[in-house]
Amino acid sequence: MSEKEVNIKNYVREEATRKIFAKVFDDNAVMAVHFLATKRHFEELEFIISTGKEAHVFRARDSSDNYKAVKIYKIETSDFKHMDKYIFGDRRFNKVRKEKRAIVFAWTRKEYKNLEKAITAGVRVPLPMGSKDNVLVMEFIGKDGVAARPLKEVGFNLKKTYETMVDWLARLYLVDLVHADFSEYNILVNGDELVLIDIGQAVLTTHPKAGDFFKRDVRNIATYLSKKGLKKGYQEVYDAVKARKEELENAK
Ligand SMILES: Nc1ncnc2c1ncn2[C@@H]1O[C@H](COP(=O)(O)OP(=O)(O)OP(=O)(O)O)[C@@H](O)[C@H]1O
Ligand SMILES: [Mg+2]
Repeated sequence: MSEKEVNIKNYVREEATRKIFAKVFDDNAVMAVHFLATKRHFEELEFIISTGKEAHVFRARDSSDNYKAVKIYKIETSDFKHMDKYIFGDRRFNKVRKEKRAIVFAWTRKEYKNLEKAITAGVRVPLPMGSKDNVLVMEFIGKDGVAARPLKEVGFNLKKTYETMVDWLARLYLVDLVHADFSEYNILVNGDELVLIDIGQAVLTTHPKAGDFFKRDVRNIATYLSKKGLKKGYQEVYDAVKARKEELENAK
C-alpha cells in the first residue's frame, strides 16, 4: 500500500468516497487535509455533498461530532483561465504566480478572505474556519447533518428573497466586495434563513471589471425573481440596492 493510500485512509474512511478522492486529488491535497485535521478542524471527511466543476464539497465531522463543510478545489480540471479574470485585478492577489496550482491556491485563500469580509458586512455566509492550499473548511449549513439545498431547487418566500438579495448586495458593496456569481445556485435555503455561498470569485470594487460583475449580479436578481413571478426590472433592483446602501450608510 502506498503512503498516499495510508494517509487518505486516516481521513476518508468510506471506500467509495476514498476512491473518488484518490482520483480527483493529488498527494499535496492529502497533506493539506492532514494539516487541517492536525489543527483539529475535523477527524473525517465522511462523504461528498456536491461534485462541482471546480470543487468537491464534503461533509466532515470533528472530534465533538460537529459537522463541517470542506470544499476542495480541483487543480487539474479547474478552469484557471476563468479564475484568472477574478484574481488579477483584485489588488489583494495581483502578485500570484500565473500558474495553475498557484492560482487555485490563491482562489481558495480568496474565498476564505471573502467569507470573512462578508461576515464583517453582516451578510449570512458560512463561517470560514480554516484553509490550506486548495482545501477550505467552513461551517456546515444544514439541519441534522443534511446539507441545505440551493434556492434553485427548493425556492423560498419571494418577497423575503428579494429583500435579502438587495440587502446582501448593498452590504457587500459597503465592504468593497462584488460577489460576481450571484444566483439562485449560490444561495442555500436553511430552514427559514437564506445563506450566501460560493464567494471565491468575489472581487474588490476597485477591480477593473467590478462594475460589469455588479451589473450582472443585479441582472441575475431581476431575471430570477421575474421568472418566479415577482416582476422586477434591472433598474428597479439596481435602485433598490443603491437605496439600501444609503440606508445602511446613514445608520452607521
Ligand atoms: N457550507 C456549506 N454547508 C453545506 N453545504 C454546502 C456548503 N457549501 C457548499 N455546499 C454544498 O455544495 C454545493 C456546491 O457549493 P459551491 O457552490 O460553493 O461550490 P461549486 O459551485 O461546486 O464551486 P465552483 O463554482 O467553484 O464549481 C452547494 O450547492 C451545497 O449543496
Ligand atoms: Mg456554486
